[in-house]
Amino acid sequence: MLTTLDLERLRADTPACEQIVHFNNAGASLMPQPVYAAMIEHLAREQAVGGYEAQADAAEAIADFYAAFADMLNCDPLEVAFMESATKAWDAAFYSLPLVPGDRVLVHSSTYSSNYLALLQLARRKGLSIDFAPSDEDGQIDVAALPGLVRDRTKLILLTHCPSQSGLIQPAKAVGRFAREYDLLYLLDACQSAGQMPLDVDALQCDALTGTGRKFLRGPRGTGFLYMRRELAERVDPVFVDLQSAMLEGPDHYSLAPGARRFESWERNVAGQIALGRAVRYAMDVGLDAIAARIQPMAERLREGLSDLPGVTVHDPGSNRSAIVTFSKSGVDVGNAKARLNGRAINVSTVPREWALLDAQERNLPDLIRASLHAYNNAAETDRLLEAVGAL
Ligand SMILES: Cc1ncc(COP(=O)(O)O)c(C=O)c1O
Repeated sequence: MLTTLDLERLRADTPACEQIVHFNNAGASLMPQPVYAAMIEHLAREQAVGGYEAQADAAEAIADFYAAFADMLNCDPLEVAFMESATKAWDAAFYSLPLVPGDRVLVHSSTYSSNYLALLQLARRKGLSIDFAPSDEDGQIDVAALPGLVRDRTKLILLTHCPSQSGLIQPAKAVGRFAREYDLLYLLDACQSAGQMPLDVDALQCDALTGTGRKFLRGPRGTGFLYMRRELAERVDPVFVDLQSAMLEGPDHYSLAPGARRFESWERNVAGQIALGRAVRYAMDVGLDAIAARIQPMAERLREGLSDLPGVTVHDPGSNRSAIVTFSKSGVDVGNAKARLNGRAINVSTVPREWALLDAQERNLPDLIRASLHAYNNAAETDRLLEAVGAL
């Protein structure tokens, strides 16, 4: 067990800190040593004894994937599914919901673009209507305006907890209270919040929550997870079935796996699943409260430092802000900036306007540079970034 936010230990577990300043945790974080070891150990077992045999031997570690998520999210292990990405988790939940022609869906402009694409596609296929919730003066979803948007056929609200294109933290609990009060289904994309802050599905009152392994949870690539409230999971019909999610019981009959397991695939990256379970345990050992308490003020200090630089504009809305810091510098192309920072061993990413088009249009955004911090980052590194951005 790590002592709460033992920075030295966190950095020792993250050997790449010696070589690079990694501010691309919202893209893919650096796996801590124990997570990497869990992954490599399983791959070595696969090589030594065979993939199926290694899986059978790893039954306990695989079971702990579900137990770890259940502990982190405050749910039942049967409400958790292992998925290959956050998008696949989202699609599995969203496309399976019992929506019929004429139903209405509430959404906000900060919604992750892939989720919005899925919404647009399903709306066209099924004849659904989309209603946009406005932003309040802080740029977050205007919770007070939501009741006024509910009509007879409003069935669902979609929210991206922490958008990938800004530092906003949406008021996900308040949206959950609203959804419960108006009897709407509530799908929460926690792709950027999982691993950054505590998430309690009871407190959030969401019906489904999705995320990925590689971002703030610091798990491996090609992994994701889906939480779905059991009562909902057991009345939805998954879009796809296979021998994992269903059992053939006769020529004209099959039964579905319990809870969220009906969304899983038989074939999977077992090493990735084990390592993601390990990553959740690691995050909980560090403490999700402690992680949030460290990275949010660090990100605020970085925003202040950036705002003081000539020509730099910080673009993060919200009264509560995450570890994602977005900014632009006048006259500086973001792709070029990223390459130059990378040349100085500082990893950042960029958000071209079209990746978050709805938000970019609403907020009149330019292309953005994104620096996303994690708990193992330190003040010397943010200083290095400020100096390098100043020199761009
Ligand atoms: C808010 C949000 N949702 C969903 C996703 C999609 O995650 P994945 O690439 O694992 O499908 C991302 C990825 O950047 C994201 O930032």
